[in-house]
Amino acid sequence: MNKVKIALLGLGNVGKGVWEIFKNNTEEIIRRSGCEIEITKILVNDINKDRGIEVPNEILTDNIEEILNDNSIQIIVELMGGVDPAADYILRAIKSKKHVVTANKQLIAIQGKELLDLARKEGVLFYYEGSVAGGIPILKGIEESLTANKIEEIVGIINGTTNYILTKMSLEGMDFETALKEAQEKGYAEADPTSDIESYDAVYKLAILTSLSFGINVNVNDIYREGISKISSHDIQNAKEFGYTIKLLAIAKERGNSLELRVHPTMIPLNHPLSNVNDSFNAILIKGNAVGDLMFYGRGAGSLPTGSAVASDIISILRNDMTLRSISLVENADLQKTILPREEFTSRYYLRLTVKDVSGVLGQISTILGKNDVSISSFIQKGEKDANNIVRIVFITHDTLEGNIMKSIEDLKKLEVVDEIKNLIRVEKFI
Ligand code: HSE
Repeated sequence: MNKVKIALLGLGNVGKGVWEIFKNNTEEIIRRSGCEIEITKILVNDINKDRGIEVPNEILTDNIEEILNDNSIQIIVELMGGVDPAADYILRAIKSKKHVVTANKQLIAIQGKELLDLARKEGVLFYYEGSVAGGIPILKGIEESLTANKIEEIVGIINGTTNYILTKMSLEGMDFETALKEAQEKGYAEADPTSDIESYDAVYKLAILTSLSFGINVNVNDIYREGISKISSHDIQNAKEFGYTIKLLAIAKERGNSLELRVHPTMIPLNHPLSNVNDSFNAILIKGNAVGDLMFYGRGAGSLPTGSAVASDIISILRNDMTLRSISLVENADLQKTILPREEFTSRYYLRLTVKDVSGVLGQISTILGKNDVSISSFIQKGEKDANNIVRIVFITHDTLEGNIMKSIEDLKKLEVVDEIKNLIRVEKFI
């Protein structure tokens, strides 16, 4: 039996998952890979830290050179996260002709093309299924099973932490901080949860999905991004009354020769399948011009689900018998598509504001919306006026250009009767 030695860089949540999977599923892994896989070294920051799992102390090292200079190690599994020093370690591993597996979405989204080009040049394999949507085999799905399609649209819930928080706020009335703390305890959140809450994590994942699906190399700064920190219990309650739930959606839509790329909280109809994707679960809808609508659903974060994707990538490398397979991810970067500016997005909008309870206020607001070509679909006034004579009102618009909504908000802010623009949330109607 072929014996293969591998090294893990990092023994956090996902690293521990990979270790457990190799320990518990040894027979399956031998049967499917045809190899006996041995994790011979693990790079950690602190060798003496108690990690709550049984790992022989002698395989832990805090010296990357011990791994990179060890010619018996054939595969490097990077699970440290972040760009620095992960990028440098991976570059050096590739140059030492080691195959690479990573779950590092930030690194792939920012430097994926460069690393993959180098891997191809050096004749090594490089897989990163765990970087998007945890245990869901979405990258292999796109790369292997949908290659005959022109992909037209991707709409996904691809961050487990924010989905957990929004679910707890919607279904249990939990406050934001408690829900975030629970998500962290369950091991879903990034080391710094800002990346989850402010949607950077989802932007990295959408960049990877877009590169794969539309054949362009996306700059993460070209993806419009909004986090969930402005969503209040008022918005959650109002959404329910209008027949919606609020989810953080990552959206890539082809519009002619352009792409609309955006990540933001979105109201979706309660009867849409995505509205029932709860807790840390992820789901990705893909529309292909031959296959039609597909939905991938599963655990998008956590130790074993992400470990499952990583361990399977290791097996994929071994199944390829260490011979080079073409890696087409992010390969067609020369395809030209422009990224639509925010002003040209089209959506429906939920607008929540507080206004003075005086006669003519609604007339003034609807005049401004009308002047900017924004047509109102629904309107509600919430509760009674407060001691300062302020009332809460909510509008939902018909489809409109985002530029028109932005202009309307600027104009509304100037009205003396408008107290505050509280929130603007896009409403996806799915046609
Ligand atoms: N923090 C990420 C999430 C982990 O919550 O989805 C998986 O990428």
